[in-house]
Amino acid sequence: MEKFIIRGGKRLVGDVMVSGAKNAAVAILPAVILADAPCTVENLPWIEDVNILCDIFEQLDVRVEQLSERRTMIDPTKMRSYKASFETVSRLRASYYLLGAMLGKFGHAEVALPGGCEIGQRPIDQHLKGLRALGAQIEIERGNIVAHCENGLVGAEVYLDVVSVGATINIMLAAAKAKGLTTIVNAAKEPHIVDVANFLNLSGASIKGAGTDIIRVHGREYLGGCTYQIIPDQIEAGTYMIAAAATRGDVCVRNVIPTHLEAVSAKLMEMGVRVTEGDDGRDFFIRVQADKAPRPVNVKTLPYPGFPTDLQQPIMAMLSVAKGTSVIVENIWEDRFKHVGQLRRMGANINIDNRVAIVEGVKALSGAPIYASDLRAGAALVVAGLMAEGRTELNNVDFIDRGYEAMEKKLSALGADIKRASDGKAMVY
Ligand code: EPZ
Repeated sequence: MEKFIIRGGKRLVGDVMVSGAKNAAVAILPAVILADAPCTVENLPWIEDVNILCDIFEQLDVRVEQLSERRTMIDPTKMRSYKASFETVSRLRASYYLLGAMLGKFGHAEVALPGGCEIGQRPIDQHLKGLRALGAQIEIERGNIVAHCENGLVGAEVYLDVVSVGATINIMLAAAKAKGLTTIVNAAKEPHIVDVANFLNLSGASIKGAGTDIIRVHGREYLGGCTYQIIPDQIEAGTYMIAAAATRGDVCVRNVIPTHLEAVSAKLMEMGVRVTEGDDGRDFFIRVQADKAPRPVNVKTLPYPGFPTDLQQPIMAMLSVAKGTSVIVENIWEDRFKHVGQLRRMGANINIDNRVAIVEGVKALSGAPIYASDLRAGAALVVAGLMAEGRTELNNVDFIDRGYEAMEKKLSALGADIKRASDGKAMVY
């Protein structure tokens, strides 16, 4: 286990480049399985979740070749197996996309039930409902999801009972090669859904409406290869925007799509932070400048384009030193406040009632030995450590490595005093 040693109190100043979007990458890689020719994926983020998927590919005879730092060739044409083992799959939430992709390609799939961050019950009933509507027979056997469709999938109308990113993408994947028309109603609208649809369309699929709540997929028999560039990670960008504001810094977050970050920019401006968007001719950027304690605000997490649940934890760290009381409501995940106990160890005054956190701003946080319980809790505690007086020892940073590329290097380049050490302690929640 590794840890971060952070000496807080340094203003972040300078430029930071955002990597490719984790939640797009972990869906586009499985989507490549559907192609009948090699694909080149550009701008893959070098994070642990991507490494795990590449390990799974190796076991499935999908060839992965690094063409250059940001170009990866993936050849699924020799793939014969449709089984993904527990050992690899249990380390990754997004392994559920292998189900839709393998079912779409082979008419069979056997995938261990997914792992990932412990932030709620995380059912996949809507994924299974959608795949069953397309004709798949699905059983859970010894911890595996076993899905078959002897005569191939057939398009259908699927109404999602909850707005689910994962179910929307999984059904899109399975439908891309199904016979006829699939309509997904009450679909999620997150930017990575549009990104997966764009990738599939460039490979020859016919998907319309991604980014709205009705998606129509006309199945195609053949999907050729393509070269595709993954969008920038709006959650990584939002994390650096919050870290910049929390340290009362002045940071240009580069390689972003500003519209994907409107909810975050608006909330930061409400807190008294100066946020400006720009275009340097090559990339869009967002500049974040702050020089005083934030004003308290209320935050409610919602599906896109609402405020993202994946930034609820980092913004709570910043609000812990606001001048007054903030109320945060977590509407997506029922157990995404595990970072609160750690923030309290640093002096924060936060009370939880079910899905509501009441954050009474304190004057300052103080460094402490703390633990990350999940990916975004880790990001929140880094923000807290950067703001705090003194030394913070953040354990369990393996969670952070799952979704942030070289976080400590990017922060160091902005002037943070943050180092990785290898004698961290693991804590199981
Ligand atoms: C995706 O998870 C992201 N993960 C999550 O990011 C993100 O928090 C979440 O979407 C919401 O934006 C990936 O993209 C890999 P959902 P996902 O299905 O797809 C309920 C991060 O930190 N639900 O949109 O698993 C569910 O319990 C991660 O990067 C069902 O009831 O989320 C939740 O309350 C964490 N039945 C809500 O819907 C289902 O079949 C939204 O979940 C599926 C979901």
